[in-house]
Amino acid sequence: MYETPELDSDAFVRTHEIRVYEGDEAWEGMRAAGRLVGQALDMITPFVVPGVTTGELDDRIREFTLDHGALPACLGYKGYEKTICTSINHVVCHGIPGDRVLKDGDIVNIDHTVIVDGWHGDSSRMYAVGEINARARKLIDVTYDSLEAGLAMIKPGNTFGDIGYAIQQVVEANRMSVVRDFCGHGIGRLFHDSPNVLHYGRRGEGATLKPGMFFTVEPMVNLGKPHVKVLSDGWTAVTRDKSLSAQCEHSVGVTETGVELFSASSAGLFRPKFG
Ligand code: MF3
Ligand code: CO
Ligand code: CO
Repeated sequence: MYETPELDSDAFVRTHEIRVYEGDEAWEGMRAAGRLVGQALDMITPFVVPGVTTGELDDRIREFTLDHGALPACLGYKGYEKTICTSINHVVCHGIPGDRVLKDGDIVNIDHTVIVDGWHGDSSRMYAVGEINARARKLIDVTYDSLEAGLAMIKPGNTFGDIGYAIQQVVEANRMSVVRDFCGHGIGRLFHDSPNVLHYGRRGEGATLKPGMFFTVEPMVNLGKPHVKVLSDGWTAVTRDKSLSAQCEHSVGVTETGVELFSASSAGLFRPKFG
């Protein structure tokens, strides 16, 4: 007798609803994906030095990812032709790796997403190239502080608005601005799932967090105004006022009591330390 097979692909299309994952398999899948993206971003750290091209960093991370039995999620995604995004100085996000040579004083965000057994792990970090100035160090510190403040709000019963509010408070208290045009996202079997995770907002607004929700938090912070424009390559987003921009991103899951960071660095390299 013929039975209609269950189509996995039908089960995972983006709708307005926020998915709640159940069972150990989902958690273990996200841990494996998050661990690998963290390891890839750890691995690249000693190579982010003056003189290297962003294309060489892309090659290294692609090879590392494939060597570990995973797929680079960005490669081929909506026509994107690289593995990672490399966003330097006033580039807000989605900078495309290529011939650009990193130079002393640059700050660069490397954003990478892996697929391990169908589960996505998405994370990005800032890297300082050689010696960076005090303004750049302050920007990076505030960006990481804002992410930490947002993550600290994650527990069942709080809302997505609580996360956005906490991020925005930290950024604006330091007279910097939160980018509005890009946001975090649900993640899991899909790369970009519901909801849009805003990095600004009001306390108590938005959907309520429930155990088993998986999503990213990835604030982009500008030293100047929040406005961005996308260059003619269709990807590279830059600050309109050419001010410096920084970002960092974790993939997380809501637990019964709080939050689990899937993409933490076991080497302690997620947040750059200066001096
Ligand atoms: N990793 C990015 C994110 O945080 C997405 C990059 S867009 C891509 O969602 F086209 F490069 F994949
Ligand atoms: Co990302
Ligand atoms: Co993301």
